[in-house]
Amino acid sequence: MTIGIIGAGSIGTALARRLAKTGIPAILSNRRGPDSLFDLVAEIGGAVRAGTRQDAAAQDLVLVAVNWPKLSAALSGLPDCGGRIVVDANNPIIAPPFQLAELHGRLSTEVFADLVPGARVVKAFNHLPAALLAADPQTAGGRRVLFLAGSNVAAKAEVGSLIERLGFHGIDLGLLTEGGRAISIPGGALAIENLIRLD
Ligand SMILES: NC(=O)c1ccc[n+]([C@@H]2O[C@H](COP(=O)([O-])OP(=O)(O)OC[C@H]3O[C@@H](n4cnc5c(N)ncnc54)[C@H](OP(=O)(O)O)[C@@H]3O)[C@@H](O)[C@H]2O)c1
Repeated sequence: MTIGIIGAGSIGTALARRLAKTGIPAILSNRRGPDSLFDLVAEIGGAVRAGTRQDAAAQDLVLVAVNWPKLSAALSGLPDCGGRIVVDANNPIIAPPFQLAELHGRLSTEVFADLVPGARVVKAFNHLPAALLAADPQTAGGRRVLFLAGSNVAAKAEVGSLIERLGFHGIDLGLLTEGGRAISIPGGALAIENLIRLD
């Protein structure tokens, strides 16, 4: 399976680096287009290549990591997701000046899901700083913990399997309204908790 990545900043690149280390193919995309990513993907190596956001969005599993105010533009004009798994790695923060976006009482992933009609949305890869996501997950005598949440059990199983293949320890926290809230940034009880599952 090739992983599509929309957003080639800190988080998109961190995931691409882990995918490259594991030999999993990926298409990395950004706003400016593939030409702007050739040097980066050459440096990342592995089976990661540059593509358009349409190329990335066409993959069976797509990770989206874009600044919150730019998400709508990043996901507009794409075909219906047709049941594809779309991972929401985003946090509803407007940075700078690091203000919480107006969510009108909803969870950020619920707002995100409206932007990807037809997708099976899973919340994951959002609760740690990018540098920790890029680092070797096998550390301190165990594996770094990543959380996931969502309503589609099969989609979560796929994302959980990817997390394990990347060398992390995945923990399914249940529904968005339960675990998704716990990993929400800001304010979630597990936000930015850098936990290690000891071997
Ligand atoms: N940084 C962290 O430590 C961290 C941790 C957890 C979660 N997050 C969340 O992850 C998301 C991304 O954060 P980041 O720090 O990775 O951001 P970032 O470094 O600023 O990168 C954002 C990326 O989004 C791309 N983008 C913007 N508009 C786009 C469009 N219309 N189409 C396609 N791509 C577009 C940018 O492309 P261009 O460069 O071409 O404009 C850039 O590659 C945010 O929601 C953030 O809250 C970040």
